Order: sequence, then C-alpha cells, then structure tokens
Amino acid sequence: MKVVTDLIALDEALGVKRAAGDRIVLVPTMGNLHDGHLSLLKKARDSGDYVVATIFVNPFQFGENEDFDSYPRTLDPDLERLEAMDCDLVFIPKGSDVYPRGPEHATRVEVPDLSSILCGQYRPGFFRGVATVVNILFNMVRPDAAVFGEKDYQQLLVIRQMVGDLRMTVEILVGETVREADGLAMSSRNSYLTKDERAQAPMIFRQLNTARAEILAGSRDFEAVSARAIDALRSAGFKPDYFEIRRAEDLSLPKGRDEELRILAAAWLGKARLIDNVAV
Ligand code: PAJ
Repeated sequence: MKVVTDLIALDEALGVKRAAGDRIVLVPTMGNLHDGHLSLLKKARDSGDYVVATIFVNPFQFGENEDFDSYPRTLDPDLERLEAMDCDLVFIPKGSDVYPRGPEHATRVEVPDLSSILCGQYRPGFFRGVATVVNILFNMVRPDAAVFGEKDYQQLLVIRQMVGDLRMTVEILVGETVREADGLAMSSRNSYLTKDERAQAPMIFRQLNTARAEILAGSRDFEAVSARAIDALRSAGFKPDYFEIRRAEDLSLPKGRDEELRILAAAWLGKARLIDNVAV
C-alpha cells in the first residue's frame, strides 16, 4: 500500500494505473476508521482495480463552535486497517494543497435546497464544506467511482446532486450503514460518549424502527409519529435536533401515497451529535 501526501506523487502513482485502463475507486474519509469505513473499502475493492482512500479532516465542513480540533485523529491504526483491507493507495493531502488560500477564500460548491434542510439547518455551511472538498478530492484523484455511506444519507444525496448538476463522470456507489451489535450506527463521534451515554445511544435506532413499524402498520400522521419519537428521546436524556419522515428521493415533505420514505434523526447525547436513518 502506497501512502502519499503530495500531489506530484499522487499523479505519478495514478497516471500509471489510468494509462493501464484500471478502474480507480475512491473512498473519501476523515480517518478514525471503523468497520463502517472498512465496509466501503470492501465495496471499492469488489468494484474496482485500484482502491484509493483519502484521509482529510476537512476544516471547511466544521462550524466555528464544532469539534474540528477535538475530532479523533488516529493515523497509525488507520493505516494498518487500510492495509488489511487491501487498499492500494492512501492519500493524505496537506491542508495547503486542498485550500491554498485557506477554506474561506476557496471557490466553493453550493448544492441548493438539500443543503439547507435537516442537518443543513442545524449545521449551516456543513454541506457546502462537504460538496467543496469532495469536488476537490475528485479532481485530485479523478476516480472512475467513489463510495459513500448511507449512514450519512443527506450527504449522499448532496453529493449525488452535485455530480449530476455539474455533469461529473464519477459513478457514486453506496454502502449500507454498519452498526454495533446493539444497533448504534458506527461513527467516529461515538467515542465522545460516556459509558452511560453509550448504553443509551442505541435508542435512536430503536425509535427509527418503531416509527418505521408505525408507518408500515398504516399510520399516515407523520407529525404525530415524529413527535412521539422526539418525546421519547427527550425523556431519555437526548436533545433531538430533528426526527423527520421525508421522501427518500430528495428529502422533501411526503406528498401522497406510493412514495419511498426515509426516516432521519439527529440528536445530541452529551458531547456527541448522533445521526441515523432508516428506509421505509
Ligand atoms: P467520515 O465521517 O469519515 O465518513 C467517511 C465515509 O464513511 C462516508 O461516506 C460515510 O457515510 C461513511 N460511513 C460513516 N459511518 C458509517 C457507517 N456506520 N456505515 C457505513 N458507512 C459509514 O463523511 C465524511 O467523513 C466526510 O464528510 C467526507 C465525505 C470524507 C468529506 O469530508
């Protein structure tokens, strides 16, 4: 496995593969790798010839009062895991290569509508930061395909819309959410939870499943379904940002019958902001 931190070495390594006609598949990450990330690497391995992972904690997607400084950085174990997953190349770009003039002065990518609802409402600028860095990473690596997790469902839709609107030629592949044995979606931010909070945390997934069961049993009063889940989470010590039933396609409000739905939730538990979602 090659570990590369500069653009010249990246172009050298990838140029050879591109010339050979290899299918290059990218897995962008912010590191602190867990089994969720590794499942994306497996997907990349199965779908391509040359697997590239990036590790970059992107300052542009963190708000001023968010956890950029404390975000877990665990490079050595990350590299061991990538090696074990048969990753071919890890690109760890320098901040000054990604944002030569600093994030605030960089040309940015704005995906309208989707970026201002749900997580975007509570984290203004977040999806702008994600879309911008993913665009830059795509242009640096020029992959044939890239893999993203359903755990971050809204992020996946933002990236799909960006790729479509800008006529990018990268194929977007999707990895299912990987969970702990008790249902908690794996996340780097789970490490912020105390032991007691960690024991409470799977309640988000349970509430998503309860809401799903209610809808499948015929309930069409989505506001009532959401309100009950929010009450339950509050009573258990969570501070929910939202618990919403939306159209799976574009996260707009459901209009009628025969739509595919997605239930999405974000809630604070202690210092951790947890997000999760399920299909209906
Ligand atoms: P990060 O949180 O490190 O996640 C990297 C990728 O792993 C994302 O596609 C995310 O959806 C996926 N992922 C995270 N937890 C998962 C789980 N439990 N199961 C399956 N997939 C999971 O998301 C980001 O980084 C950044 O926003 C990034 C796209 C790299 C841009 O900076």
